[in-house]
Amino acid sequence: MKFEGRDVISIRDFSKEEILHILDVAEKMMPIAKGEKKSSLLNGYIMASLFFEPSTRTRLSFEAAMKRLGGGVIGFSQPGTTSMQKGESLADTIRTAESYCDVIVMRHPQEGSARMAAKFARVPVINGGDGAGHHPTQCLLDLFTIRMGKGKIEGNVVALLGDLKYGRTVHSLAYALALFGVDMIFISPKELQMPKEVVEECREMGVNIEIKNDIEDLSSVDVLYVTRIQKERFPDPEEYKKVAGSYRIDKETLKKAKEDMIIMHPLPRVDEISPEIDETKNAVYFKQTFNGVPVRMALLALVLGAIE
Ligand code: NCD
Repeated sequence: MKFEGRDVISIRDFSKEEILHILDVAEKMMPIAKGEKKSSLLNGYIMASLFFEPSTRTRLSFEAAMKRLGGGVIGFSQPGTTSMQKGESLADTIRTAESYCDVIVMRHPQEGSARMAAKFARVPVINGGDGAGHHPTQCLLDLFTIRMGKGKIEGNVVALLGDLKYGRTVHSLAYALALFGVDMIFISPKELQMPKEVVEECREMGVNIEIKNDIEDLSSVDVLYVTRIQKERFPDPEEYKKVAGSYRIDKETLKKAKEDMIIMHPLPRVDEISPEIDETKNAVYFKQTFNGVPVRMALLALVLGAIE
């Protein structure tokens, strides 16, 4: 297993063993992530954080991860303030950034942009989300959260609920769960179903996939992964209006579920999980948000070669 110098573009770039190794390293990072222990592991390293799309958790947790390990951060979250405004290409922006740093984290609205950036950069590129494409680091922290909440990844039934068409987190997670042999239920409005290729790929990997359009029966579900409707990716706003508000998790929904079912959400949420759920023992989405820090610490340290 070698991580040093590697790009993190898609979860498909990693084997099951490599994924488990990242999660194990992340677990060791916990005390540092919480600020209980100090570290200078990445002292002298610089991470460039290039965000061409809105972000709260991904950007802040990457920056926190780098700083908790003693590293430095440069970057932008408002691309309108960069020379791209003057017409500079993404390729040239990447070539510039890479000459100032040791690792690049980027988020961009265009699918395939991170893979493209990796071609131009000598330093590792970590994809923080490319359009409706991939979100590998979210996927790793989702797996970490499942393992923490349920003790293991295998053997659970996971329901992915919401916008499975445009949601990049569920595209990455479905593949990874299939890799772990996890059976899944894909629940979405008809218009927002999981892309056929993803369903076929998971089935070819040997897992059972059930496809549903409502949340009436959650009795077999161990992990409910809720997502937001990705309003910004709809080509036609009228189409968004048709599906907006079409599902919502509340205490009534919980009555139909296993008592120890965990509820996850990559966040941000809009109205798909009622705030009354936040205080239940089922809700783990804020822990999930925190888990972005140790997982991203592990990734940064591994691709920078500071640990093995
Ligand atoms: C997700 C994303 O950006 O894809 N958020 C995140 O990274 N935590 C989910 C979303 O925006 O709905």
